[in-house]
Amino acid sequence: MQIKTAIFVKSSGKWQECPEPEIPEYAFIGRSNVGKSSLINAMMNHKDLAKTSQTPGKTQLINHFLVNENWYLTDLPGYGYAKVSKSLRKDFEKLITNYILNRKNLVNLFVLIDIRHTPQKIDLEFMEWCGENGVPFSIVFTKLDKLKPGAADRNVEIYKAKLLETWEELPDIYITSAEKKVGGEEILKFVEKTNDY
Ligand code: GTP
Ligand code: MG
Repeated sequence: MQIKTAIFVKSSGKWQECPEPEIPEYAFIGRSNVGKSSLINAMMNHKDLAKTSQTPGKTQLINHFLVNENWYLTDLPGYGYAKVSKSLRKDFEKLITNYILNRKNLVNLFVLIDIRHTPQKIDLEFMEWCGENGVPFSIVFTKLDKLKPGAADRNVEIYKAKLLETWEELPDIYITSAEKKVGGEEILKFVEKTNDY
């Protein structure tokens, strides 16, 4: 898919404040600092459409970007950020889960996972929750450039094996680097294929 236009629409602190759900929507979710905002910028060929930071917890609202005037790409706050207070973390969780369960035009969630890490409980539990709630999702490994190819392949295989302990089938998996602009085109192909709202 060629990106002709990508514009920031709004930041929302509640799912009810999100733009009218008239066009298909795809959302990026994952732990704080995993690279959600960076990958959005890389895919949109835009340096700072979505705000990024080395400090986790940068994105605290639901951010909608309108792409090619016919679909939304949504940047969500990270989950599991340990340094915010427990009550604030609960608020984030509520914001995210309410958004996911109520957003009628949400076609797919992309769950971002840092390719350097072994499978983390919080991500596995989040995907379980998606399964229980019938929320379609794909996995997007990020920061591929931070590992040597052999190590990256190995980690993906470990992740798949872990998933197959609880899932009968694997979700779609994308392997990306925002830094090196790798893998975004495959995600856009998926959007193109499913964007017939
Ligand atoms: P929150 O908004 O806090 O939830 O974080 P986020 O998931 O949006 O992460 P963000 O895109 O802000 O990136 C976090 C840090 O990781 C930044 O310092 C980025 O430069 C870095 N980063 C993101 N993607 C990549 C990548 O593909 N490669 C490398 N080397 N660094 C990356
Ligand atoms: Mg962010």
